[in-house]
Amino acid sequence: MKIVGVGCGPGLLTEEVIATIAAARLIYGSGRAIDLAAAHIPAGCAVHEITDYARLRELPAHAVVLSTGDPMLAGLGFLGGEVIPGISSMQVAFARLALSLTRAVVVNAHGKDHDAAVAETAAEIGRGRVVFLIADPAFAVTALAAALRETSPHCRIAVCEHLGYPGERVAVGTAADPPVPVGDLFVVVAGGF
Ligand SMILES: C[S@@+](CC[C@H](N)C(=O)[O-])C[C@H]1O[C@@H](n2cnc3c(N)ncnc32)[C@H](O)[C@@H]1O
Repeated sequence: MKIVGVGCGPGLLTEEVIATIAAARLIYGSGRAIDLAAAHIPAGCAVHEITDYARLRELPAHAVVLSTGDPMLAGLGFLGGEVIPGISSMQVAFARLALSLTRAVVVNAHGKDHDAAVAETAAEIGRGRVVFLIADPAFAVTALAAALRETSPHCRIAVCEHLGYPGERVAVGTAADPPVPVGDLFVVVAGGF
């Protein structure tokens, strides 16, 4: 099985990923991942939208599994097989903010305990790190800002939405005046930057 990263938005596929998709005969992916790869899927290739993530390990060896962004950043790289990297939402967010990745630490709140993610974020900012937080649609930036007002009142918070898509929006504020996401697909960058 090959797990390929199709980038976090349109037009972010590497040549290695494009070649792998162009040679595929069996592809699995989320609807968004299939959309991102669609231009490179060959005629005659069987394409399946993933409905049961628990059964992905049962796929045949020649299957190509599409993972949005990079497979190793809260993606499908855990499945095993060969992982082909993609351009992640983290890379695009840090590029948009012109921030060095060497200062970054990742907090994954996607489908996880949001209170724990907020506490981890506050602790990492206290250590001088810039936190890249993988959100989900229910993540409350206001709750994160309220916690940071107590621990790091001067830190900045950026909400980066629909990175790479035509509707991309990057809004920067502070713990006192945080940006509010307007859509469902967003990450948060927070710290002293
Ligand atoms: C399951 S994680 C997958 C992350 C992906 N593997 C990556 O490398 O970006 C899904 C979360 O990633 C973030 N994300 C993915 N693509 C994004 C984009 N284009 N713009 C903003 N956030 C994005 C959002 O927080 C979303 O809820």
